[in-house]
Amino acid sequence: MGPCRVLRRIGVLAVLALLAGPQVASAQAAPPKETLRAVPLGTAVRLSALRDDTRYRDTFLREFDSLTPENELKMAALQPRRGQFDFTTADALVDFARRNGRPVHGHALVWGLALPPWVIDHGASDEIGLRLPPIVLPALPGALGKGLANSATVLTGWRRDELLSIMTTHIRTVMRHFAGDVAEWDVVNEPMADDGGPSPSVWRRFIGPDYVEHALRAARAADPKAKLFINEYGVEAPGRKLEGLVELVRDLQKRDVPLDGIGLQMHSHILGFHDQATLEGTMRRFAAMGLEVQVTEMDVGTSLLNVAGLDRLTRQAEAYGAAARACNAVAACQRFTTWGITDRLSWIGVGEAPLLFDAAYKPKPAFAAVRNAFAPRMERAAAPARQARRWRWRAGTGARCGWGSCSGLRAGRR
Ligand code: XIL
Repeated sequence: MGPCRVLRRIGVLAVLALLAGPQVASAQAAPPKETLRAVPLGTAVRLSALRDDTRYRDTFLREFDSLTPENELKMAALQPRRGQFDFTTADALVDFARRNGRPVHGHALVWGLALPPWVIDHGASDEIGLRLPPIVLPALPGALGKGLANSATVLTGWRRDELLSIMTTHIRTVMRHFAGDVAEWDVVNEPMADDGGPSPSVWRRFIGPDYVEHALRAARAADPKAKLFINEYGVEAPGRKLEGLVELVRDLQKRDVPLDGIGLQMHSHILGFHDQATLEGTMRRFAAMGLEVQVTEMDVGTSLLNVAGLDRLTRQAEAYGAAARACNAVAACQRFTTWGITDRLSWIGVGEAPLLFDAAYKPKPAFAAVRNAFAPRMERAAAPARQARRWRWRAGTGARCGWGSCSGLRAGRR
């Protein structure tokens, strides 16, 4: 989902919230200590920031248990040209995670966005109603050949079998490359439309709605040990989109299509977030279907309207706290990930101040709300934390030194 769509959605939520009147959620107490579970706290991470910003790196290593590459594992990054994979940046990030004992949540194999140019913008003749059948050109060598092939698909779209093969080859190549280092994947990202049907994408359009099934089967075959997720936004509360997703899952399960979990993105806003009971209800629905659940991309925007008497940071802490307590209360909820560390680098802009640490890396009330919802970190992540402390970064070199040796961040994976 692009930032504009997010802001539009946030706008709608805000208006609905205002129409409903001042329904400020009361600050709820943390659950009793004995019911707290050791749910790992993850965050989306950018390799560039890890390299350039010591505070970013230190905050990550001090406060987070796992990471999701924010953009580095998307198709545009990994397969910029057809059949040519570039793992340089992704390898460096996965390497960083491995050496610091942090599991990686792989994001995202099949999505309608973050696509390389050679995949998108096809089917121009279709758009104007000509519906020419896909043209298959003989493979011509060199740039001219590639250019011609691309122009043909721009005009006529993909043949189903050709795009299916591109999709499954991408899944197989990427998952095998990272097998052993990336144990869980968002195989399909954002497959649902608001009306509960399939969302439009090049995959849906030229393969058909069964692209989801083909993607999941290809993923299981590529790395049978990996956990496979469908990741979605706007399905945290009852509504047509959630019902559509539940229906999709039911259908997949009926036909023995492999699927291990559902990622609830949880992009939200202080003027329209969901309470703990609602979120728990959604999580329990997927748990009852035998699935794991993760909060995968939480952020809580705080901008927009001037509402009197509203303390933005308190309200934000309530939103985060409700989601974290819901996750703690449902055993199937296995990870809680925020979409970034610091407001300074949020994808929706520093003005939204949507994350757990402010632009100066100071923890916000939301951070305490999340931490208080789960078991204290030292009790649950002792081994990775100790390991992390052994490693020190040499300022400016991108090299990590420990046990008398240094390893460069820029070096490829083993
Ligand atoms: C976003 C990244 O955070 C941005 O840096 C990038 O420009 C666009 O994508 N849902 C998703 C994520 O599944 O991949 C998106 O990430 C945010 C919305």
